Amino acid sequence: MLRRVKDAGLRNVRLYQGDARDLLAALPLESLDRVFILFPDPWPKKRHHKRRIVCRETLDILAGLMRGGAELRLATDHMDYAAWILEHLRIHPGFEWLARGPADWRSRPEDWPPTRYEAKALAQDRPPVYLRYRRRP
Ligand SMILES: C[S@@+](CC[C@H](N)C(=O)[O-])C[C@H]1O[C@@H](n2cnc3c(N)ncnc32)[C@H](O)[C@@H]1O
Repeated sequence: MLRRVKDAGLRNVRLYQGDARDLLAALPLESLDRVFILFPDPWPKKRHHKRRIVCRETLDILAGLMRGGAELRLATDHMDYAAWILEHLRIHPGFEWLARGPADWRSRPEDWPPTRYEAKALAQDRPPVYLRYRRRP
């Protein structure tokens, strides 16, 4: 990652090697325009669901950090987790799902970066879902 940042001459990238939730606690309120959570660990066993990063507590923190109109973008190839994400965001008052039809969640928008895990899922015939939410003003 560091080599790629250097080779591309990027000067606006910061990396944090640790639990992303600790970083969230240090960010100013209403400072984010876009947040990506790409292929988060699905923790498939029911007794481990409490470890999923998409939960009411994380969504509350993100809602506070995102500006009105900011986008939360999530991808997963795990359909049980997809249903979990949809339900947690449906009941959260701070977010609105932007999909108007199946094409909106079945294909990755152009301005959404591909990832290694996405390539692996596609190669193994597990098409991901791409979910875009807007922070309500
Ligand atoms: C299934 S991989 C997906 C990696 C990458 N986003 C991709 O799409 O190729 C999930 C990643 O999330 C990381 N992860 C899980 N919980 C995390 C947390 N609380 N903070 C930071 N990273 C976390 C794991 O270490 C792992 O690298």
